[in-house]
Amino acid sequence: MDSGKSCFLSFWVLLIFAEVMRVVTGNLVFQVHHKYGGRGEGMAALGALRAHDSRRHGRMLSAIDFQLGGDGSPTSAALYYTKITIGSPPVDYHVQVDTGSDILWVNCHNCDRCPTKSDLHIELKQYDLAASSSGKVVTCDQNFCDAAFSSPNANCQSGMNCEYSVTYGDGSRTEGYFVRDNFRFDQVTGNLQTSPMNGSIAFGCSAKQSGELGSSSEAVDGIVGFGQANTSILSQLASSRKVRKIFSHCLDGSKGGGIFAIGEVVQPKVNRTPLVPNEPHYNVNLKSVEVGGQFLNLPTDLFDTGSSKGTIIDSGTTLAYLPSEVYQQLLDRMMAQNPDLQTHIVEQQFKCFFFSENVNDGFPVVNFHFENSLVLPVHPSNYLFRIGETEYCIGWQNSGMQTKDGREITLLGDIVLSDKLVLYDLENQTIGWTQYNCSSSIKVRDEATGNVYLVGAHDISSAYNVSKANFIAILLFLSVLCKLIE
Ligand SMILES: *[C@@H]1O[C@H](CO)[C@@H](O)[C@H](O)[C@H]1NC(C)=O
Ligand SMILES: *[C@@H]1O[C@H](CO)[C@@H](O)[C@H](O)[C@H]1NC(C)=O
Ligand SMILES: *[C@@H]1O[C@H](CO)[C@@H](O)[C@H](O)[C@H]1NC(C)=O
Ligand SMILES: *[C@@H]1O[C@H](CO)[C@@H](O)[C@H](O)[C@H]1NC(C)=O
Ligand SMILES: *[C@@H]1O[C@H](CO)[C@@H](O)[C@H](O)[C@H]1NC(C)=O
Repeated sequence: MDSGKSCFLSFWVLLIFAEVMRVVTGNLVFQVHHKYGGRGEGMAALGALRAHDSRRHGRMLSAIDFQLGGDGSPTSAALYYTKITIGSPPVDYHVQVDTGSDILWVNCHNCDRCPTKSDLHIELKQYDLAASSSGKVVTCDQNFCDAAFSSPNANCQSGMNCEYSVTYGDGSRTEGYFVRDNFRFDQVTGNLQTSPMNGSIAFGCSAKQSGELGSSSEAVDGIVGFGQANTSILSQLASSRKVRKIFSHCLDGSKGGGIFAIGEVVQPKVNRTPLVPNEPHYNVNLKSVEVGGQFLNLPTDLFDTGSSKGTIIDSGTTLAYLPSEVYQQLLDRMMAQNPDLQTHIVEQQFKCFFFSENVNDGFPVVNFHFENSLVLPVHPSNYLFRIGETEYCIGWQNSGMQTKDGREITLLGDIVLSDKLVLYDLENQTIGWTQYNCSSSIKVRDEATGNVYLVGAHDISSAYNVSKANFIAILLFLSVLCKLIE
């Protein structure tokens, strides 16, 4: 029952500053529902799908290399995206990588209010089912549809589409239907070498957009969810025995791009902390916070993982959100090193200051300590982002002030995760990381042969250039999947 129905609770956090102020309201955080509808209960197994696909693709392949583009800087369009190849003939799509959601969707041919151009210097594409000889609709009586909705659809009649809709709290919405088609992945087959591998994947074909989704200047073709649900492409590939349920990312905080790979990472070695069980998001147990060598004095139950507490690790979020108490003490310690520093507020949201020296010398390292003695060090150059020659803003946010309901979430996004290799091992239910040069390479094991191969960094966005003069936007896509108890 608990694995039964799930709902998505997503926030589109749209913090837009500079000249484009269309959507700015007093409360800069928009809380969102991302709903798959609630029909009955009991997640229908994808067993049949797995059996079918494993017959089709007998071999277990282990490592897939995604080319990563984008830029983690909060002062440009903060999103990471990757290129995926779908259909016959194959067409490339650029999709945002989001560990906070569970399905992949792309804009559909002739879709209503879909973006047609993007400031990211990518050519937007729309998936055309009729143009792909291998594409088919997923009907509502298929296992995938049952899994997406947690249960068989009582109203399903033969031949009906499996429809979905995603509604965000700022009023934007995407809706469409699931289709299945061949995907081509870059399978790691040698050192810094890949070759195409295909797999059949069910994904959302988005037929209609409304609200900001369709008009965002940093539009991409869709979103790929790397959540834990059975509907994610990782789960689908794993159930067809093509990959193990392990993936990792390494986001280059200064240059953009980085590494995003599926497969077991053998180098660098990472220490791990357990995932909090039965959380739909990637939650871990934070024990304490240390700033410049001193532990903050916090109530022991502050990070309790009961009822939606716990610390969320989310690469789809840009900044880091801390409960008021942590936030206040952390800022006090940070500023104690620079008693003469005057802060000012930029865009009603950010605490900023002028600083002409190297921030790594002027501010303390913040260490987050997790269960199993795993430490997450965050250097000043990661948590302070530069908006001018000598002007910096603080990336730490007070979560009590940010969420509509004042809920004190702890959520660590890209500023904390960048320049680290972060490994998500869904098989062992652990997550781990280590400080790493994300422009270098990692070693991944190929499960089928046992060989270990180098996987290098990519930046597919070298042409990517946000014109700061007319558009500086922060788009934080943070989504929290929640379970609905009827
Ligand atoms: C995913 O599917 C497997 C079987 O294919 C099932 O055992 C598991 O419970 C499902 N997971 C969720 C979260 O529903
Ligand atoms: C893989 O792609 C090739 C070429 O596009 C195609 O002929 C083949 O049917 C595909 N195989 C699977 C399993 O989808
Ligand atoms: C993951 O779990 C398996 C079996 O439970 C174990 O053999 C393996 O060593 C674990 N791997 C890691 C890296 O913890
Ligand atoms: C990171 O790795 C790249 C590629 O190997 C190298 O050129 C660069 O100097 C490294 N950066 C640092 C800071 O070590
Ligand atoms: C990026 O923007 C800068 C300044 O606006 C410009 O000089 C440069 O040519 C642009 N680069 C690309 C690749 O568009």
